[in-house]
Amino acid sequence: MNERSRISHFANSEAPLDIARYIESGGYVGLMAALGKTSAEVIGVVKNSGLRGRGGAGFPTGLKWESVAAGEQPYLVCNADEGEPGTFKDRFILERAPYLVLEGMTIAALAIGAREGYIYVRGEYPEIAKMLALATEKAKARGYLGNDILSSGFSFDVAVRVGGGSYVVGDETALLNSLMGNRGYPMLKPPFPTEKGLWGKPTVVNNVETLAYVPIILGLGAQAFASIGSVNCPGYKLFSLSGHVANPGVYEFPMGTRLRDVLEKAGGVTGTLKAIQIGGTAGPIFGPAALDYNLDFPSMQKAGGALGSGAIVAMNTSVNMAHVLEVTMRFFAQESCGQCFPCRYGTRQLDYMAHRIALGLGKVEYLDLMRETATVMVGASFCPFGQSVALPLKSLLDEFGDEIVSFMTEQQYLKEVSE
Ligand SMILES: Cc1cc2nc3c(=O)[nH]c(=O)nc-3n(C[C@H](O)[C@H](O)[C@H](O)COP(=O)(O)O)c2cc1C
Ligand code: SF4
Repeated sequence: MNERSRISHFANSEAPLDIARYIESGGYVGLMAALGKTSAEVIGVVKNSGLRGRGGAGFPTGLKWESVAAGEQPYLVCNADEGEPGTFKDRFILERAPYLVLEGMTIAALAIGAREGYIYVRGEYPEIAKMLALATEKAKARGYLGNDILSSGFSFDVAVRVGGGSYVVGDETALLNSLMGNRGYPMLKPPFPTEKGLWGKPTVVNNVETLAYVPIILGLGAQAFASIGSVNCPGYKLFSLSGHVANPGVYEFPMGTRLRDVLEKAGGVTGTLKAIQIGGTAGPIFGPAALDYNLDFPSMQKAGGALGSGAIVAMNTSVNMAHVLEVTMRFFAQESCGQCFPCRYGTRQLDYMAHRIALGLGKVEYLDLMRETATVMVGASFCPFGQSVALPLKSLLDEFGDEIVSFMTEQQYLKEVSE
């Protein structure tokens, strides 16, 4: 295995802003390789590598770049909003390997012909925003960013912007609205940002992790990257492990690694595994059968879930699933942007019923009503946020509905005997 095929190889927690150390570890090899190629060749390398976006949807990166490459005055945006509960892998990259992301952005800009780029950083990561501003200055001073990069005639600059703490602004259309100074509301697609994005210009929005793998691909070559992991979904992937695992943290594995093996590497589950949520709060909650799932985009889709951001939250038998239902619905109610009625109202209804259930005041009829509400939201909500509530809700009720009903019955009984 070539160590340089992993983001972790470039992660330097002691001196992340030391650009000389980054170069010593193999940094900027990818950019130098890219500068010797045409835009079409760079896009060809990324397409042949099979890289899929790590922001959640797994869209092929080379294809996205290609659709913008012919456009007039395109922009590049790095999505560092990372609001998904249980997800902290972009933070890991930005805190330890900021130059890898800047290098990936510069290669992406070269491929699509962008002169200006933005990093949109989650509002709760102010220290990272400061670090990134310093890193851009240092990269410029060394000629890796700014005017006439490495005397190639290509110029590209990056500005850092900080979000206001909204989860929904992680959606690329809402993020672009926010960058333009508008309220962070999602917009209808089409037109896609690649057609009409920042200030009406074609725009590529890529996740931090996606961009961090780009220099690695250019440095190693497409085939080396394509030979790692799953055939249909190659390369490494960062997973954020939390909950009842012995050693929570960020781990990097080839795509397609079994969940069981990922958890083992993190020291295993503490106690007996009861439930596991994969892909973030908008992902389904599975029972222990999920241990045999292969973690890549196509395999997870086949299993009825989604790899999403690669968040993995393990829950042992001490967890009350009525409480999981409550915190999940509260998240949706608190983060709904309120732009459309089905989501604004639906999330509040779901939150109300889940809260009553957790207090022991719920009714069994609530469970059907919650399913119906989620079904309406899937069809009628304006953006993927409102449409996604059904996945965690229905999986919770399918897998743990009996436990939730028993909890309600028991609470009812305890109330009656105490009266
Ligand atoms: C509600 C919502 C929140 C999102 N949050 C993020 C996020 O925090 N980071 C991210 O990269 N993508 C997020 N996305 C996905 C982006 O819209 C977009 O698909 C992604 O940034 C594209 O990057 P990629 O092609 O490199 O995966 C979110 C999408 C939705 C609908
Ligand atoms: S679905 Fe929810 S988050 Fe999306 S636009 Fe409507 S209210 Fe906002």
